[in-house]
Amino acid sequence: MIVLSDFEAVREALVSQAEVFSDRPSVPIVAMLTKKKGIVFAPYGPVWRQQRKFSHSTLRHFGLGKHSLEPKIIEELKYVKEEMLRYGKDPFNPFPIISNSVSNVICSMAFGRRFDYEDVEFKTMLSLMSRALEISVNSHVLLVNICPWLYYLPFGPFRELRQIEFDVTAFLKKIIAQHRDTLDRENPRDFIDMYLLQVEEERKSNSESSFNEDYLFFIIGDLFIAGTDTTTNTLLWCLLYMSLHPEVQEKVHTEIEVVIGRDRAPSLTDKAHMPFTEATIMEVQRMTVVVPLSVPRMASATTVLRGYTIPKGSVIVPNLWSVHRDPNIWERPDDFQPTRFLDENGQLIKREMFIPFGIGKRVCMGEQLAKMELFLMFVNLMQNFTFLYPENATKPAMEGRFGLTLAPFPFNIIVLKR
Ligand code: HEM
Repeated sequence: MIVLSDFEAVREALVSQAEVFSDRPSVPIVAMLTKKKGIVFAPYGPVWRQQRKFSHSTLRHFGLGKHSLEPKIIEELKYVKEEMLRYGKDPFNPFPIISNSVSNVICSMAFGRRFDYEDVEFKTMLSLMSRALEISVNSHVLLVNICPWLYYLPFGPFRELRQIEFDVTAFLKKIIAQHRDTLDRENPRDFIDMYLLQVEEERKSNSESSFNEDYLFFIIGDLFIAGTDTTTNTLLWCLLYMSLHPEVQEKVHTEIEVVIGRDRAPSLTDKAHMPFTEATIMEVQRMTVVVPLSVPRMASATTVLRGYTIPKGSVIVPNLWSVHRDPNIWERPDDFQPTRFLDENGQLIKREMFIPFGIGKRVCMGEQLAKMELFLMFVNLMQNFTFLYPENATKPAMEGRFGLTLAPFPFNIIVLKR
């Protein structure tokens, strides 16, 4: 296993030698759960390429990176604000509200509907997925990689993981079946409908096609797993940093006041006029790197990288966390300083070493969607609220909780209506 810990090494492998370093390793626990299907863990090759291309363009069709998705996100925020206001001046844990709302954005694109925050099945699904990400890096569970049969043990984390797999499968399969039964070929409602139509289309002309309902199930699972925890944790980190850095929060408030005011909802077009707010989100992403070790890659051929021979089959870990804390790149890397992303005129500087979404052929497929959600949700919440850290509560350890994503330790927050 080779860990790439600085930007140049990551870029040389993932960009300059992309043909060699774009595969994923075959990890038994992952292969058992994903059957090597979907996008995130699929082997590099024509099937991955077809599925990623189709998924990306279909998400774009339903608004990824475009203004047409804005109203859905803004509508979701109505529920978020209502929920937050219910606590009055009492501290509360923002995790469930944020996680429900982020995943509802994916739901609206994938399933054509949102779920009520009180919906028991939906709430259970979200906490199960989050739990699965947490326990899948548990040291006992990782033993499955050495002894795959451990996965079938009827006790401990193995049993829990299998139960989660069973429940999530049943939930998603039910939704896919409902779509199949109500499909209107002339009016595809969402991602699932578009995929089902593609399956029918390919069946006519290509008997070898990788498009089938089974594959669809894994892609939907990927959109949830890759899209919910990452964006949720980033937003939670944003709220936590704001509550601990009131001076930064105040500057964001001022910028919102000047550019948007209080009478209308934020729009993506505001982004270009809000460099400080954007720099603040970027700085939170730099400090917290929610996918700290990216998703591992594998060398698909023997090659030479930075003078070292890398044998075919080596697992490559791009250490995004260390790239974003490298003192050779970032001055005082452990300090929270949004201004590092601004020039002397207060304009945003694009820094190529800022790569929280990874780089290369397998760069995050949801990057535009995540950026859109982060901006619209963060700005909308900040437009309406001041976030306070409860006075007598101990400050949480800021290194976070490591699962497949880096989550803040559970914390409570107080919202004050502005
Ligand atoms: C702040 C939010 C997010 C962060 C920081 C993030 C980060 C990442 C990273 C680091 C990777 C691995 C890239 C690599 O292998 O080099 C990745 C892959 C991926 N992400 Fe995201 N992600 C975020 C949100 C999303 C969203 C909202 C979606 C949903 C559409 C998504 C879908 C994916 C997919 C499908 C992949 C696999 C790409 C492939 O293997 O070809 N991500 N993401």
